[in-house]
Amino acid sequence: MQHRSKYCGEVSVEDIGKQIILQGWVQRRRDHGGLIFIDLRDRAGLVQSVIDPKAAPEVFAVAESVRTEYVLEITGTVSPRPDGTENANLPTGMVEVKIEKLDVLNTSNTPPFPIEDGITTDEMVRLKYRYLDLRRPEMQRRLFLRHRVIKMIRDFMDEHGFIEVETPILIKSTPEGARDYLVPSRLYAGKFYALPQSPQQLKQLLMVAGFDKYFQIAKCFRDEDPRADRQPEFTQLDLEMSFVKQEEIFELIDELYIKVVEGVSDKKLMSKPFPRLTYADALNRYGIDKPDLRFGMELFDLTDVGNGSEFKVFQSSEQIKGICAEDCAGYSRSQIDELTEMAKKYGAKGLATIALTEDGIKSPIAKFLKEEEIAAIIERAGAKIGDLIMIVADRPKIVAQALANLRNAMGTRLGLRDDSILAFAWVVDFPLFDWAEDEGRWDPSHHPFTMPHEDDIHMLETDPGKARSQAYDLVCNGSELASGSIRIHRRDIQNKIFQLINLSAEEIHDRFEHMLEAFEFGAPPHGGVAPGIDRLITILTDDDNIRQVMAFPKTATGIDPMTDAPSSVDAKQLKELHIRIVED
Ligand code: AMO
Ligand code: AMP
Repeated sequence: MQHRSKYCGEVSVEDIGKQIILQGWVQRRRDHGGLIFIDLRDRAGLVQSVIDPKAAPEVFAVAESVRTEYVLEITGTVSPRPDGTENANLPTGMVEVKIEKLDVLNTSNTPPFPIEDGITTDEMVRLKYRYLDLRRPEMQRRLFLRHRVIKMIRDFMDEHGFIEVETPILIKSTPEGARDYLVPSRLYAGKFYALPQSPQQLKQLLMVAGFDKYFQIAKCFRDEDPRADRQPEFTQLDLEMSFVKQEEIFELIDELYIKVVEGVSDKKLMSKPFPRLTYADALNRYGIDKPDLRFGMELFDLTDVGNGSEFKVFQSSEQIKGICAEDCAGYSRSQIDELTEMAKKYGAKGLATIALTEDGIKSPIAKFLKEEEIAAIIERAGAKIGDLIMIVADRPKIVAQALANLRNAMGTRLGLRDDSILAFAWVVDFPLFDWAEDEGRWDPSHHPFTMPHEDDIHMLETDPGKARSQAYDLVCNGSELASGSIRIHRRDIQNKIFQLINLSAEEIHDRFEHMLEAFEFGAPPHGGVAPGIDRLITILTDDDNIRQVMAFPKTATGIDPMTDAPSSVDAKQLKELHIRIVED
C-alpha cells in the first residue's frame, strides 16, 4: 500500500495532469463502450476513474473483477472530462482519473443496503450493519457535525476559564430520578457500583474542592425505556460554577448556543438572547413546560364564562380553556372527530368546538350557551371568521395536557413549526416538588440538590408543594435541551429536602452522608446546568430521532442488533460476581 495523495472527494481541476494515488470504496462500476468506469468514494466524496483496455490491458482485467464496496488503491493521472460528460452536481465532476495501476486491497460482500443517501431500509437492518450505515455520506455528515459542535464547545469552555475533569463511571448508587444501571462487584459479594445518571454529585464536590468552573463532555446512563429523544446512554455538556447566579449561567449558555448554531447551521434564531419564561407562565399560556415558541396559538381561560353558563359539563368543571386555530372553521366532521380523539388520548373527556364560518357559528355546544357567552368566548379567543375554537373542560392537569398536544398537532398541520427557525427560551421558577401520587410523597421536580427559591424557603415547613425552586430548563422548538439549577450548599437545607422526600435518617446517612459531610467543609454557593448534546445535534440535523446522531445507539427496545447486547454471560463470570440468575 502506498501513501495516498489526497481524498477522492478533493480531486479537482488543479490536479489535471498530475499522477495521484487514491484509496477508497467502489461506489459503482460501469462498463461502457469498452471502457470501465469506477466511482471511488471516501469520507470526502466521490471521484470518477476510468480504465481504457487499450492503454492498460492487465489493469482492465483486474477492474472487471471489481464489485461494489471493494477497497481499492488506484494510481492514475487526473484529466479533464471529455466535453459534455462533466457533472455539475458533483464537486469532482469536471475531472476523472485515468487509472494506470489498480490494487484490490479488500473485497466486499454485497452490502444489505446501498451505501448512499436517502435509503428507506428498516432501521433494525441499518443498526445491525451500523458500520455500513455510517459509511453512507449523510451519516458521515452527521458525525462530522457532531464532532465540530463538541470541538466548538470544548474551545468555548476553555476560553471561558472552565477546566474539563473526568469523573468516574463506577460510582455509588444514589438514584437521581431514573433507574440506575448496576455493576456487580467481584471483590465485595452482594455489593454494586452504579453507572452515573449524570456526574451531578461529583461536579458539586469539585466545587467544594475549589475548581470554581468545571465542565465535561460526559456520558450518562439511565435504565429507562428509550424513546425518540431518549437513549439509555447519552452525552451531556455537564458544567458547574461556584459563586454563581442563575443569570450568569443563562448568559454563558446563550453565548455558547448562539455561537454553535450560527457556526454550523443556516437556521435562524427566533430571539437572542434567549427569552425567559416562568414555569407558571409556560403552563398557563402553552399547557406545557417545553413550549414550541415558533408560533402563538396560546391557551385562553374560559372558566368563569363556562362555570356561569347553563352547560352542565362547563358548570361543574374546575378549569375550562381553549385554543384558536386560524382558518380551520371549514374542518369536516371527521377532522373534528380526529382532534377529539387526540384530546381524549391525553385524558380529556371531550372536545368542544366553535367554528366561525361565513354562514355563522357552527358548534355542538352553541345550544347550551347564551349568545353573549359565545361572544365572550370569541373575544377571549381573539377569533375571526374562518377560525376554529377548541375547548377542553377538566382538571387543570388534563386541560393543559390535552390542549398542549392539540396545539402542537395544529402547529404541525398548519405548517407553523418551521424547521429553519430555532426558538430557544429559558423556563425558570419550576416548582421544587411534584406530588408522587402512588408513593404518597414529594418528589423533587429537578433533583434533590436543587436550591429552593430564596423567597420560598419558609414554605418547606408549611407548604412544600407551593415552593418554587431555582431550577431552569433550556427549551427549543418544543423539546427540552438542557436542565440545571442553583444547588443547595448547606447541610441543614439539604437534610430538610431529604426528609421531605421521605428518606429516613438512616437512608439519608447511607446514601448521602458524603454530600452532607462535604457541605460542612466550606462548600461554596454553586450552580450549573447540563445541556444534552445528542438532542442539540438532532435539532441541528432536523432528525426526528436521537439515534440518527449517535454512532452506535440502542434500538427503541434497548438492544444493540450489531453486537447483540445485552447478552448472556458464562457461568464462571456469574460465579465470580456472586450472581445467580432466577428466571421469572
Ligand atoms: P437532566 O436529567 O434534566 O439533568 O438532563 C439534562 C439534559 O440531558 C438530556 N437528557 C437526555 N438525552 C438523551 N437521552 C436521555 N435519556 C436523556 N436524559 C436527559 C436532556 C436534558 O435536558 N444533573 C442534571 C443537570 C444539572 O442539574 O446540572 C441532569 O442530568 O437534554
Ligand atoms: P354532550 O352533552 O356530551 O353531547 O357534549 C356536548 C359537547 O360538549 C360535545 O361536543 C362534547 O365533545 C363536548 N364536551 C363534553 N365534555 C367535554 C369536556 N370535558 N370538555 C370540553 N368539551 C366537552
